[in-house]
Amino acid sequence: MVLFLIASCSKRGPLIFIDHLEEAKQESLKALEKKRAEEANYIQRKTEAWDAIVLDAKSTFQHIQPILQKKCSSCHDGDFKMPLYGRILPRYNPVAQHQIQGLEAFEFTKIFPLGAKGKPTQLALLKAFKTSVTSRTMPIKSYTLIYPKRKLTDNDQERILEWINPLIHNIEKFEATYNSDQSLDGKALKILEQKCFRCHANGIEKGKFGEMQDLPKLLKSKYVDRADSEKSQLYILMATQKMPPNPKSALSDDELIVIRDWLESKTK
Ligand code: HEC
Ligand code: HEC
Repeated sequence: MVLFLIASCSKRGPLIFIDHLEEAKQESLKALEKKRAEEANYIQRKTEAWDAIVLDAKSTFQHIQPILQKKCSSCHDGDFKMPLYGRILPRYNPVAQHQIQGLEAFEFTKIFPLGAKGKPTQLALLKAFKTSVTSRTMPIKSYTLIYPKRKLTDNDQERILEWINPLIHNIEKFEATYNSDQSLDGKALKILEQKCFRCHANGIEKGKFGEMQDLPKLLKSKYVDRADSEKSQLYILMATQKMPPNPKSALSDDELIVIRDWLESKTK
């Protein structure tokens, strides 16, 4: 009908109509191109921001490398050559076992990004590193009994924190800029990732409890009370600071509220 009207108003009518169509097509193509360019630009900025963090972490690592080499390498550096007595009967030898378990939990062979079995997030690993230093749970006791000079000193701690704290700050800023999912699901996942996955997800099963990354399965498990989410063992373990095991890594009140609200929203 419209076509007919335009066509009958002027001899060039149908042509004008085609011009308009062509214009609209060009316009939407341009918009698409612009959107693609913006996306490429965003990805490039994100990559560059992450590369800058990695570069900075690597170049400042030299300040703490001698400490870690002396006091942590035996069990956390994949390039470390185990002494001969450590290589005998590795399945029963505590020295070999410490290295195997140590490397699974935390590895700085490539300096940064840090490694671990199950590939936990860098923030989770850095915070575990920090807690192990400030609470002096590392190096393990059986080791410092034999090598008392390899205990961490206050000066070691100060230097390690000088490396870790700005790094944690920069990654948190990066996460807020490029990976911020402000939905309840997004916030809850982030907390579980930071606080639990290192020991209970992606192939790691401390206490025979694993696969936390499978959230639908977790929500159906015996650890979640669907009638009264606040009575869920999952929530109680966190609220009573039993999990994570080191109370220094306990969830903050704000984080507990997110987990409580999330469980509530999922069990209704
Ligand atoms: C004699 C071996 C040994 C030495 C030396 C050692 N560690 Fe460990 N480390 C371990 C073992 C074994 C584990 C795994 C513990 C576990 O799974 O419960 C571990 C776990 C860790 C973890 C993960 C913590 C956690 O809660 O899971 C961090 C971080 C860590 N070590 C840091 C260090 C640092 C930093 C040093 C040096 C100051 C160090 N370790 C020295 C054996 C060692
Ligand atoms: C550093 C490692 C580590 C972290 C981080 C950690 N756990 Fe655990 N978890 C363990 C160990 C070890 C056990 C088994 C021994 C025990 O129960 O104390 C365990 C056991 C459990 C169990 C089984 C308890 C049972 O009675 O069956 C649950 C559930 C659990 N953890 C939940 C969590 C939650 C939720 C988080 C995060 C808020 C978390 N854990 C963080 C090490 C960890």
